[in-house]
Amino acid sequence: MTATVIDGAAMARQLLAELGARVEALRARGCQPGLAVVLVGDNPASAVYVRSKQRACDAAGLRGDNISLPAEVSQADVLALIDHLNADPTVHGILVQLPLPDHIDAAAVLQHIAFAKDVDGFNWRNLGALVDGHPALAPCTPSGSMLLLERSGVPIAGKRAVVLGRSSIVGKPAALMLLERHATVTICHSRTPDLAALAKEADILICAVGRPRMVTADMVKPGAAVIDVGINRLPDGKLCGDVDYDAVAAIAGWITPVPGGVGPMTVAVVVSNAVAAAEKSLLTA
Ligand code: GUN
Repeated sequence: MTATVIDGAAMARQLLAELGARVEALRARGCQPGLAVVLVGDNPASAVYVRSKQRACDAAGLRGDNISLPAEVSQADVLALIDHLNADPTVHGILVQLPLPDHIDAAAVLQHIAFAKDVDGFNWRNLGALVDGHPALAPCTPSGSMLLLERSGVPIAGKRAVVLGRSSIVGKPAALMLLERHATVTICHSRTPDLAALAKEADILICAVGRPRMVTADMVKPGAAVIDVGINRLPDGKLCGDVDYDAVAAIAGWITPVPGGVGPMTVAVVVSNAVAAAEKSLLTA
């Protein structure tokens, strides 16, 4: 079998076009949706992500405000900025790009963002809503992964799903989303014995470990849907995922490439969450 390649870039463009129509409807009601992205320091990878979010805002018609702070900024000043953005009615979504410098407590900063503007879905209230099956603003990478599966026609209900990785940003919320869609879900991590054998049972395999090409073809069930969340930089500067792409593509049913898979869809979901936050703000105004 040769896998169907899930074109995340094309699906992200489609989603942004759909969002553009919702932005038009908001504008017609006098609401211009705005997303504020806060970048602290000069991490080059973060700068790339922030630029891609700006492009996605432009594509869907959102106002994107990029706020850059020097690496030495104090935590108090970051919190004060968030207070200001929380109170600004023209800002519907706030995203603080991670990682933050070591002297800043990232959890304190993320929890300071008003839950109604938390487009990352990291606020404990939003994560709690996801746990309880009433997702409000949900984390973007797993939401994007679910959209890729759904829009590719991958069956989920009743299937075995295995999530490699247990981060709060990807692994844990991805498992909850798959569970909500009636998959039987296993989460594997660095202390899981026989991880390869468990992975091979998966009809849907979400790979979010951050280790280049760790998922080899012998770990994949023929016909499985393989979602590669990893973005790893090789010594030669090239990007690769957590999946040994060529070998796995030869046996999987569906596969996402890196780049061009989960990444663009994640960015489109940031915009989607900002649009949803703006729509909700009109309901509560
Ligand atoms: N850095 C890497 N992934 C993410 C993410 O999902 N959200 C934010 N805010 N920063 C990140």
